[in-house]
Amino acid sequence: MGQAPRRLGGSRVTPPDVIDVKDVRDVSHRGRARLKSILGPRLTVLARCVTRGLPLTRWGNLRRVEPFSRSFGFDRGTPVDRYYLEKFLDANRALISGRVLEVQVPSYTRRFGEGVIESHTVDINPRFQTTYTCDLADGSPIPSDHYDCFLAPNTLQHLLDLRVALRTMLRVVRPGGTLLASAAMLLPLIPEGGDYWRVTPDGWRSILEAEWPRCEITVQGHGNCLSAAAAMYGLAHEELKAAELDAYDPRYPVLITIRGRKPMATT
Ligand SMILES: C[S@@+](CC[C@H](N)C(=O)[O-])C[C@H]1O[C@@H](n2cnc3c(N)ncnc32)[C@H](O)[C@@H]1O
Repeated sequence: MGQAPRRLGGSRVTPPDVIDVKDVRDVSHRGRARLKSILGPRLTVLARCVTRGLPLTRWGNLRRVEPFSRSFGFDRGTPVDRYYLEKFLDANRALISGRVLEVQVPSYTRRFGEGVIESHTVDINPRFQTTYTCDLADGSPIPSDHYDCFLAPNTLQHLLDLRVALRTMLRVVRPGGTLLASAAMLLPLIPEGGDYWRVTPDGWRSILEAEWPRCEITVQGHGNCLSAAAAMYGLAHEELKAAELDAYDPRYPVLITIRGRKPMATT
């Protein structure tokens, strides 16, 4: 409580030792509110960053609402997500061997396969003239327990009937065989085609544990805020340094890679 002002020689004075702390807070709060309203929201944030020593943003030519590329960087170089996909396939070369089935075209089988004895393809779209033209949710033309490796690069987000398609993928791989796949997390990876799912690493673990029971499953996110922003802007991964691409921040995965190993005995 503030002390009552005393009368001295007929005039009211308030001695400095009786100033109420609450009054001071109120005055400084009102002062800050007035300063904010004078500065406006943009300059208020700038002032806050300066006074708190927070880094300032220099947008350069990133202050734009259109990406640099409308085709995810294909026109500039290699899209950012392909950096992570290709590293993943490179690390798993030894598993891309024997009988390999790849979605759409056998490009990654050719590039990363080792000791491939049979290279087949599958796609729902007849344009690609694949070994099997079918929906993976059906998959009836594909033999069971046949392939050593199923390669589904950047495909899972396109599978409308995802869970049934995942069961087909497991069915056609031999016991002990491998499934290698990747999925979009942040943005579309190709300019065309139905694009249905964005599943987090935890979401994939949960789905795959249900649809690929008793398989050894490894799910990994890739990316960080810089590579995510670069991917969003349609930049090519060649425009970033390897260390910038390799830093992993689980809050900003650009791509998710999946490796599953079918159990030897299915009983
Ligand atoms: C993004 S491509 C993946 C492979 C491509 N080589 C790549 O690396 O981007 C996805 C392919 O999945 C095919 N696809 C979509 N839904 C499918 C389904 N239900 N069954 C089989 N293929 C499907 C599409 O026609 C498309 O060719």
